[in-house]
Amino acid sequence: MYTQAMSVGPQDQAAKVQSAEEAQKLAAFEARVGEGEFVEAKDWMPEHYRKTLVRQISQHAHSEIVGMLPEGNWVTRAPTLKRKAILMAKIQDEGGHGLYLYSAAETLGTSRDQMLEALHSGKAKYSSIFNYPTLNWADIGVIGWLVDGAAIMNQVPLCRCSYAPYARAMIRICREESFHQRQGYESLLVMMQKGTPEQQALVQDAVNRWWWPSLMMFGPHDKDSPNSEQSMRWGIKRISNDDLRQKFVDATIPQAEVLGVTVPDPDLKWNAEREHYDFGAIDWDEFWRVVGGDGPCNRERLATRVKAWDEGAWVREAALAHAKKQATKAQAA
Ligand SMILES: [Fe+2]
Ligand SMILES: [Fe+2]
Repeated sequence: MYTQAMSVGPQDQAAKVQSAEEAQKLAAFEARVGEGEFVEAKDWMPEHYRKTLVRQISQHAHSEIVGMLPEGNWVTRAPTLKRKAILMAKIQDEGGHGLYLYSAAETLGTSRDQMLEALHSGKAKYSSIFNYPTLNWADIGVIGWLVDGAAIMNQVPLCRCSYAPYARAMIRICREESFHQRQGYESLLVMMQKGTPEQQALVQDAVNRWWWPSLMMFGPHDKDSPNSEQSMRWGIKRISNDDLRQKFVDATIPQAEVLGVTVPDPDLKWNAEREHYDFGAIDWDEFWRVVGGDGPCNRERLATRVKAWDEGAWVREAALAHAKKQATKAQAA
């Protein structure tokens, strides 16, 4: 999944042009990107472009692996073998997304150890949506429908990101996210259409809790999103936060109607003139609180990640020792 925190982060100093040669390179780079050309790892790029991408791709990678945690909670409690198999496949996909993305970020000259150290020490962000708890089984369906749905909306434009290794990773990721979204929606349909009133109430309860955090996944309003303008100019970002959020609401409300659930927003209304839904104000205080580390599960998520990293040390050591042994054998042969 998941890109919300992407446009949230310290605003780096704009690249300082130091010489005529540098200025020329920058102009040529911007012209290339402006024409829709892709940038490869070996190409010259402005330092600020590199930094922005390292931050965005690593935050994205962290979001994928932290996103495995709320769902992992439900593997042992999935209601049927079929649902358990689907859930395990989805969680495994998210781990795979993390790996593609860490690899894409590594092409920019940062190491996986550096990125993970930043995550584990709390310096790096990941999408705040994963700092909310999964309280009932319907949460798993709603995560697929709304959270993976919002992720797709955010990520499809990234398939055309100017940085080619990121764009290539996103093409594969988006295909898998689309399966995630559909399986979530399908599991909710079953609960709503064939379930008991209690099961239907679980779905409505889950939608009530996940709706607003899902809208927050698109990040702050455009006017409060300091990195967006530069990212748009460099072809890293193609559609603004507010436009993506509107597209998500417009696509999701008809799906909610089919499902037979409502979203917890008294201001939601079709606006025939704009041909879009109007919707209520987001609680940005809550958003910033959770981004700042004070959400319902921030501490728990980080502690689980650090524990998994520490307990996996022997696996990494064994893999390195095995690789070394193989290399020695190949040399001797
Ligand atoms: Fe994912
Ligand atoms: Fe996903």
